[in-house]
Amino acid sequence: METATMNIKIKLTEQSRVNQLDPNNISFGTLFTDHMLVADCVNGEWQTPEILPYGDIAYNPALASLHYGQSIFEGMKAFKNEDDEVLMFRPLENFKRFNISAERMCMAQVPEEIFIGGLEELLRIDSAWVPKGEDNSLYLRPFMFASDVYLGVRPSQNYRFMIIMSPAGKYYSTPPKVKVETEYIRAAPGGVGYAKCAGNYASSLYPAKLAAEQGYTQLLWTDAIEHKYFEESGTMNVMFVKDGKLITPAVSTTILKGITRDTLLQLAKSMNIEVEERRVPVAEIIEGIANGSVTEVFGAGTAVVVSPFAAIGFEGRDYELPAITENSLSTRLKNALNDIRTGKVADTFGWVWKV
Ligand code: COI
Repeated sequence: METATMNIKIKLTEQSRVNQLDPNNISFGTLFTDHMLVADCVNGEWQTPEILPYGDIAYNPALASLHYGQSIFEGMKAFKNEDDEVLMFRPLENFKRFNISAERMCMAQVPEEIFIGGLEELLRIDSAWVPKGEDNSLYLRPFMFASDVYLGVRPSQNYRFMIIMSPAGKYYSTPPKVKVETEYIRAAPGGVGYAKCAGNYASSLYPAKLAAEQGYTQLLWTDAIEHKYFEESGTMNVMFVKDGKLITPAVSTTILKGITRDTLLQLAKSMNIEVEERRVPVAEIIEGIANGSVTEVFGAGTAVVVSPFAAIGFEGRDYELPAITENSLSTRLKNALNDIRTGKVADTFGWVWKV
């Protein structure tokens, strides 16, 4: 695949911390690689990006993003194949979605050579940090925030784009128990639900905390108007297996267009599994779990990959799901995805990007 090339100023660390990485004991989002990328957009002009030793950065207290939330991000992963080559998975899809989020939040568009070229250069420098092993990867976090120093409410004229990277293992150690949320909402039509903006995650924290107090790991969001249709789960899209078909809510302005979601749908079709993208009534799924036609419910996302749920809580009652086996569709999809993105099988979809 074509490699974006560009000028990057590079300052390497004097002392690598890679010996802190234990591939058998990785806790999500706690350890960061030796370097980070920083690129500033000043009055509409992107400046030369810099790769610097990972570390703190100082900010003015009037930083616009701290006050009014112009802040977006992406979640991506890199893997190593048998030959220790570093592979990214569908990075152009994240790049495109990032700029869709930027547009909705009235922020600068990031050029491909900074987003993709920056990821490639950073991965070349910190390749020793890409862990091998089942469920392991290097989580890539491109993000951008408004960097004007100004307290008036207006789109910022300056932005900072950054990439940081963090080794990742399994996101959930046990299958999550999720609660159908029928009071609070994540997104409403015309809002910012389809954008990967920081505020969507901030506003989910309080209802998620209330659910945690009732023993639930995560929420299953329903539509803002009637609370009758599933939207997505906490940090992931949601999928159901009913009568052997793979069903998922159709994307809309209230649902994040997940890249793992799209990948699993394509993989399922290639396995001759019938796929339905449509409105999914809560009542249909609850009834289906009770009568045995719904056999699996799982989350799909970059961080969680494919995460089968143990039970769904609805109106004060828990509906247990059957235990997952090697033959479950979620297991087969997860294995197919892992085999492609770690280079174990040929990538006939054109998804793998060798760094
Ligand atoms: C991802 O799956 O990459 C996400 O964005 C979820 C993250 C908030 C943990």
